[in-house]
Amino acid sequence: MQTTYLITGANRGIGLELSKHIVSNGDRLIAICRKPKEAMELNELSRKFKDRIMIFSADVSHDIDLLSVASQIDFPIDTIICNAGMMSDQGGITSRANESDVVSNILMTNIAGPFYTVRSFLPQLKLGKNPRVSIISSYMGSQKHQGASSYFYRASKAGVNNIMVTLSNELKSEGIIVNSFHPGWVRTDMGGKNANISPEESAENILKQLRKLNLTNTGLFLNYNGTELPL
Ligand SMILES: NC(=O)c1ccc[n+]([C@@H]2O[C@H](COP(=O)([O-])OP(=O)(O)OC[C@H]3O[C@@H](n4cnc5c(N)ncnc54)[C@H](OP(=O)(O)O)[C@@H]3O)[C@@H](O)[C@H]2O)c1
Repeated sequence: MQTTYLITGANRGIGLELSKHIVSNGDRLIAICRKPKEAMELNELSRKFKDRIMIFSADVSHDIDLLSVASQIDFPIDTIICNAGMMSDQGGITSRANESDVVSNILMTNIAGPFYTVRSFLPQLKLGKNPRVSIISSYMGSQKHQGASSYFYRASKAGVNNIMVTLSNELKSEGIIVNSFHPGWVRTDMGGKNANISPEESAENILKQLRKLNLTNTGLFLNYNGTELPL
């Protein structure tokens, strides 16, 4: 049976690869990105699988954008993947790049973005079959990760893991499964060319793992290979 997915940040990196896997598998996709006209590979995918992809523009830090997309969706959504995210300055405490507007942008994108995404599409998600939310977080957000840099990226991913747990608690009674994933260290613009796994390997595994989840393991933070990670 066809599943309907919604993915944010679908135009490049892990989001684009997830999109390719979903439509190649015969499923339907609502692809969200900031600049659809510039999303060449996503548009090409849409031409190839035109009955399966709808592309919309939204910045996930602006809930008004997401609500505008949601007002155009009159069918159930089965799975929401909150993938859009950004890296912060990767320096330490003396780095001068952590000005308040920069910090505000990363926290709004990486923490509020997934929250706004789920909130905006909740009516459609409630109508979905085996409804689920997967948030692409990072092991850099774990309190157990030994890191001494990238302060606001780490804080944002710790924050979104907390949002994930709270959503899982609130939405469990509605039958909605909520988890977050560390996608691995992935060769994308963010991960860089020295990262140890390809976007294909990351996307394929995340999709395989998220399809296995049920209400007994809602609220867990998982590695892309399915092992549980500490929050
Ligand atoms: N790559 C890794 O090694 C790694 C490791 C751990 C976690 N992650 C997480 O995995 C996710 C995907 O990362 P990636 O490696 O694919 O990164 P990427 O190649 O830099 O892609 C980031 C995606 O997020 C979108 N985005 C950023 N801010 C947005 C906003 N405000 N509204 C809408 N879209 C926005 C970007 O859109 P634009 O093209 O418009 O900028 C792009 O599509 C992120 O959440 C990241 O934190 C990645």
